[in-house]
Amino acid sequence: MAFSTREKDLEEIIKISTIINSSFDINEVLRRIMDSANKVVKAKASSLLLIDETDNTLYFQVALGDKGDEVKKYKLKIGEGIAGWVAKYSKPLLVPDVKNDKRFYKDISKQINFETKSILCVPLKLRDRTIGVLEVINKNVNDTFSLDDQGLLETFSNLAAIAIENTRSYHDIRLENINLKNELISDKIPTKFIGESKLIKEKLEMADQVAETNTTVLLLGESGTGKELFAEQIHYKSTRRNKSLIKVNCAAIPDTLIETELFGHVKGAFTDAISDKLGKFELANGGTIFLDEIGELSYSVQSKLLRVLQDRIIQKVGGTTSKQADIRLMAATNKNLYEEVKQNRFREDLFFRLNVFPIFIPPLRERKEDIPLLADSFLKRFNQELKKNIKGFTSEAVNILTGYFWPGNVRELQNVIERSVVLCKDEMISRKDLFLGTENMSFKSMDMDAILTLREAVNNFKRDYIIKVLEKTGWKQTKASVVLKIQRTYLSRLISELNISKI
Ligand SMILES: Nc1ncnc2c1ncn2[C@@H]1O[C@H](COP(=O)(O)OP(=O)(O)O)[C@@H](O)[C@H]1O
Ligand SMILES: [Mg+2]
Repeated sequence: MAFSTREKDLEEIIKISTIINSSFDINEVLRRIMDSANKVVKAKASSLLLIDETDNTLYFQVALGDKGDEVKKYKLKIGEGIAGWVAKYSKPLLVPDVKNDKRFYKDISKQINFETKSILCVPLKLRDRTIGVLEVINKNVNDTFSLDDQGLLETFSNLAAIAIENTRSYHDIRLENINLKNELISDKIPTKFIGESKLIKEKLEMADQVAETNTTVLLLGESGTGKELFAEQIHYKSTRRNKSLIKVNCAAIPDTLIETELFGHVKGAFTDAISDKLGKFELANGGTIFLDEIGELSYSVQSKLLRVLQDRIIQKVGGTTSKQADIRLMAATNKNLYEEVKQNRFREDLFFRLNVFPIFIPPLRERKEDIPLLADSFLKRFNQELKKNIKGFTSEAVNILTGYFWPGNVRELQNVIERSVVLCKDEMISRKDLFLGTENMSFKSMDMDAILTLREAVNNFKRDYIIKVLEKTGWKQTKASVVLKIQRTYLSRLISELNISKI
């Protein structure tokens, strides 16, 4: 478009061009662009509206002028009003007198008590797509906007488009970087899910069937049965295997933080929000999100999650825009969700959204055939990690392992094997290394999820076990030391070192 650019206007435009490249804060850049546009075309008010693709409306990203803050509360439908028309047809529109144009949408002006006379509005295009409009209202002096003004406003519109493009690609690059890092971390060959029992084979077949789809998978089962590992298998078998698998432990994040953790927040959303934060859902875009311990989510967060599952749309806390997300969801819980729904602790509608393809991972005691396989593989691993060369298990040890109840499931088995590899001084792991033969022996008192050093874990175990034996022997140290096959003086030293007392 040909138009005469006055020198001062040119200066203003050059100033704005440099701002675009100097700052990443898009809101500020757009505000300054509109401020310049306002000056150059000598308007009373100006706004930049963006299209919200989720509901086909225009919202005010920037609104300058006396009533700027008030006008920001409104949204326009595409096609509604002058701005809506420009957004719909993607053509500039110069309306010298709004009274004579039936496209003009009076309501907003009336409600905010602002007299609109003339409007100039141009589309904001990113490549070939219209993403919003720039609008200036009321020429300063008793004058109307000219074609020159239109040309200038179009220049500002182009600048705004570049600024938005820059930030969006910056944003995308940032996302991609994070994804790449995640890939590097997870580039290791995923741990194989061991198990050849009929029950497990069935589950692995289900995993194969569902992996290639985008179906939501809900993993159920007791703690330590391998739900998380199973989710990994599904992700690595899916077409999303080269994208991120983002894990969120819903139980580990305080209720007040979970929303921003999942959805991110925009700068200024609350006092501590000093910059934009990417949510886990954004990070998982293109890949898979695994929501572990989903039964722990509060009711309010459950509602927010439901929205994402229904529309696959994510919105940052404090943000006005929404984003379409391409995410595969998996979730896990050791809770009985039916029961949780009945007790009104879990939203029924969310439950139905999650329960599309439930897979129940049976407890270890119900698939005893897998115990020797798992034990062997853990032995291999801990031999390597602990630089030992233990050959295997005595048949008595295998019997004990397969006969045990395993309240902590595979996780507990893994811990028991690790401990026995530490303790074992022979070629083969035998009964005495396992500490499982004793009836009533329970590791429930140990926090299996806690992160302990090996020494701490072993000491915890020693303390528990010595207490058990002392209880059985009526706290007679001599008797206990015979059972434990250690010197009485050594037992007495352990008792004081491990802070054991009768109460
Ligand atoms: N079938 C299996 N094969 C190999 N390792 C397993 C298997 N099942 C569980 N594990 C291991 O046991 C531990 C607990 O498994 P996890 O997936 O965290 O259980 P859950 O999520 O059900 O609590 C993990 O270290 C996991 O690698
Ligand atoms: Mg788990």
